[in-house]
Amino acid sequence: MRTQVGIVGAGPAGLLLSHLLHRSGIDSVVLERRSREYVEHRVRAGVLEQGSVDLLRRTGLGDRLDREGLRHEGIELRFGGTAHRVAMTELTGRAITVYGQQEVVKDLIAARTAAGGELRFEVEDVRLAGLDRASPVIRYRHQGREEELHCDFVAGCDGSHGVSRSAVPPGVLTEYERQYPFAWLGVLAAAAPAAEELIYAHHDRGFALHSMRSPEISRLYLQVEPDTDIADWPDDRIWSELRTRLETVPGWSLNTGPILEKSVTGMRSLVVEPMRWERLFLAGDAVHIVPPTGAKGMNLALADVALLGDAFAAWYQEGRDDLLTGYSDTALRRVWRAQHFSWWMTSLLHRLETQDPYEAKLQISTLHYLTSSRAYATSLAENYVGLAEV
Ligand code: APR
Ligand code: PHB
Repeated sequence: MRTQVGIVGAGPAGLLLSHLLHRSGIDSVVLERRSREYVEHRVRAGVLEQGSVDLLRRTGLGDRLDREGLRHEGIELRFGGTAHRVAMTELTGRAITVYGQQEVVKDLIAARTAAGGELRFEVEDVRLAGLDRASPVIRYRHQGREEELHCDFVAGCDGSHGVSRSAVPPGVLTEYERQYPFAWLGVLAAAAPAAEELIYAHHDRGFALHSMRSPEISRLYLQVEPDTDIADWPDDRIWSELRTRLETVPGWSLNTGPILEKSVTGMRSLVVEPMRWERLFLAGDAVHIVPPTGAKGMNLALADVALLGDAFAAWYQEGRDDLLTGYSDTALRRVWRAQHFSWWMTSLLHRLETQDPYEAKLQISTLHYLTSSRAYATSLAENYVGLAEV
C-alpha cells in the first residue's frame, strides 16, 4: 500500500492532520492501535481556545461544535473563602468553548469517513523504517496480516505512549521534563453543573476544579496523591472531598448525581526537541505533554497539525520546503508558551507536598494580585484563551 503521508495515531492530532491534508488534495492513511469505539469514548480534556474553534469552523468541522459547544467568557478563581471572576473576553476579546475532546474526535472520524478517508483501527506492532530515505515505510499487523505502508513522509501523532519518537536515532532528541508530586482524580457525573463558568479552587486540602460537558453533565477534578488507587475513592468520598474544597463560598453548593466515569491521571510537563527528524514529523502529545491545569493539551495538538497541514500543502502544491523546515521552530514557540502557562497555573493552584510555608504565602499573594490587577488578570486571560501570536 502507498500513500503520501502515513499518520500514526487517531487522536485529535492525527485525525485533524488527515482532514487538513485531504482538503489540500493530499492523500494519507491513519493507523490507530485502538478501536474506533475506544477512541470515540475516551474521556479527556474539554476546553478549546478561540483559535482552535476558529480552525475547526474554517475547515468544515463547526456544525455540532456550534450547536453543542458551551462558549465561556470568564473563569472563576476560588481561594480563602472568596470567589473572583476573571473576565477573559472583556480583557482579551476572545473566549473559550467547552467541548469534549472525544466529541472533536467523533466529528473528525465522521468527516474522514464521509470523505472516503483511510482510517485503520486496531493495528498492532507499528514499526517505522527508512525515515532518512526518500520513501519511508510503516510496517504493522492488521487482522493477523503483516502490512506495509510506503509513504513520502510519516507523521508521528501517537500520543504520550506512542512508538514514533523511538524511531529517531539516539542523540538527536533532547527532552525537557518536569514531574509533579500529585495527580488528578477526574469524574464525569450526571449532575447539572452548579455554575455556568469553570471554577478553579485553591484549598488547603488541595486543588479542585468544577467543569462541565453539557447542561446535564458535570466534569470534576480533585488533586490527589500520585500513586492513588481509584479503589480507595468510592463515590461518597469523592463527593465529600469535592464539597469540602469547592463549597467555600457562602450560598454556593455543588450538584451531585451518579458518577459515570472516574480515573486518575498523572501530571507531567515534557517537551522533546526538535519535533522533526528527516521524514518524520512529530505532533501533539507524542512530543509535548502539559499538566491539564491550563487546559492546553488538545489545543497544542491541533495547533501543531495546522502548521503541518500548511507545510505539506506548500511542499506538494508549490514544491516549497521552507514550512516543513521551519515546522519545529515555529511550533515550539507556542509549545513553550503553553508549557510556561501550564506550569505556572499548576504551581499557583496545587497544594505542594514539599510545600514550605513561604511558598504557600506566595501562592496566596499571587492570587490576590491576580484578582486585583487588571494587568496580571489580562496576562492569565490571554494565555488561557490562547494568544494569536506567540
Ligand atoms: N500505534 C498506533 N497508534 C498508537 C500507538 C501505536 N503504537 N500508540 C498510541 N497510539 C494512538 C493512541 O491510541 C491514540 O489514539 O495514538 C493516539 C494518540 O492520540 P492522543 O493521545 O489523543 O494524542 P494527540 O492526538 O496528540 O492529542 C493530544 O490528547 O492526551 C490528550 O491531553 C492530551 O488533549 C491532549 C490530546
Ligand atoms: C475539563 O473540562 O476536562 C477541563 C477543564 C479545564 C482544565 C482541565 C480540564 O483546566
